[in-house]
Amino acid sequence: MTILVAVPSTAAEAAGEHARPVADLEGMQLLLDRDKVPVTVVLGPDVDLERALPLTSDLRLHRPEVGFVLLRDAVDSTVLRDALRAGIREVVETYDPVALADAVKRSDELNAALAERSHVGDDDASSLGRVVTVFSAKGGCGKTTISTNLAAALADGGRRNVVIVDLDLAFGDVAIALQLFPSRTIADAVPMGEADIDFDGVQSLLTPHSPGLTSLVAPVEPGAADTIPASLVGRILELLREHFDYVIVDTPPAFDDQVLAAFDASDAIVLLATLDIPALKNLKLTLETLDLLNYPRERWRIVLNRADSKVGLATSEVEKTLRTAITAQVPSSRDVPATVNRGVPIVLDDAKHPVSVAIKSFADRDIVGTLTPAAKQEKVPAPLRNDRRGFLRRRAKA
Ligand SMILES: Nc1ncnc2c1ncn2[C@@H]1O[C@H](COP(=O)(O)OP(=O)(O)OP(=O)(O)O)[C@@H](O)[C@H]1O
Ligand SMILES: [Mg+2]
Repeated sequence: MTILVAVPSTAAEAAGEHARPVADLEGMQLLLDRDKVPVTVVLGPDVDLERALPLTSDLRLHRPEVGFVLLRDAVDSTVLRDALRAGIREVVETYDPVALADAVKRSDELNAALAERSHVGDDDASSLGRVVTVFSAKGGCGKTTISTNLAAALADGGRRNVVIVDLDLAFGDVAIALQLFPSRTIADAVPMGEADIDFDGVQSLLTPHSPGLTSLVAPVEPGAADTIPASLVGRILELLREHFDYVIVDTPPAFDDQVLAAFDASDAIVLLATLDIPALKNLKLTLETLDLLNYPRERWRIVLNRADSKVGLATSEVEKTLRTAITAQVPSSRDVPATVNRGVPIVLDDAKHPVSVAIKSFADRDIVGTLTPAAKQEKVPAPLRNDRRGFLRRRAKA
């Protein structure tokens, strides 16, 4: 499809007979919202660039299959530079019909190539992102520290697209750990409704951090946590995994319904403990509970945080007690709280720091290196879930 925005009739012919003329940018927006198909848009010589370029910049990211060709009576280097920076594919002189026809043709060819690329692997679960939930039943073990740093390590300066979701809905501090000033939070998803929410809706709630890393932060108002249904959390995670390489979930220290929804969606569950008896006792109980709830062991990743603390517990003894292998260890360092206070993940602040090296190698070796395609993993059948929640409540009361 081709849309012509305020294009003079002399030039319109060059764009092909099936082109749709509209009078202004509003008309263009209506057509783009209605038909989510690959489009080449020709912007006429009088279209105001100050209004058009922010739109083209935004669409380049969110609808790469919408290509723009700009007509100007005279093409100077400033117009050309600004247009190309804003994602416009070509700038053509108004009175050069051959150049316009060529530009539209090239843009259509690019759209066809993009469409073909996005169809490759449509049925392939490996094109879905991976969901990784970081959990410990005991507070203060380092969930927020590990999840924010894991997210930054996976994003790797923009090499991958990663979103961190703060499910510590009452006391979440991902926003503080990353020094974010969010205008919207996960609580703003509630009015959208589980049935109607789509990726555009979820995307409007994200707060970007650094190249490759964005976030969906926890509500700021106390009490908002109770208004967010677990099923909506599940839906949000599914939408995010369709658009990001990795979805990292930070959690509260409790098996609440939202956390179980995250576990259900997770390809890997990072279980944290520190080397002290209360934390290890909690980890043992957590592992038993996950076993009873049928979360497959191959999804577990046991991580000991502050593992070099001189507390006299050998990791081999810990493995024997837990009856499972420890996946990774992250050393203790006073530089960690210092970076948290500055709002910069240590992996970004000092890539060679022993804590950064440990987290990055865990990310590369035990997350990127071991996750099998989502569809090939056994999913817990849905009908079991309610029983499992009842079981957890009974277990908590016992
Ligand atoms: N490897 C480490 N070395 C030194 N300090 C650390 C390390 N990991 C975490 N900490 C510190 O421990 C404290 C608790 O960490 P964090 O907030 O990440 O834990 P949490 O599990 O998210 O806590 P909560 O259960 O309250 O959400 C913070 O002050 C953090 O800076
Ligand atoms: Mg936390």
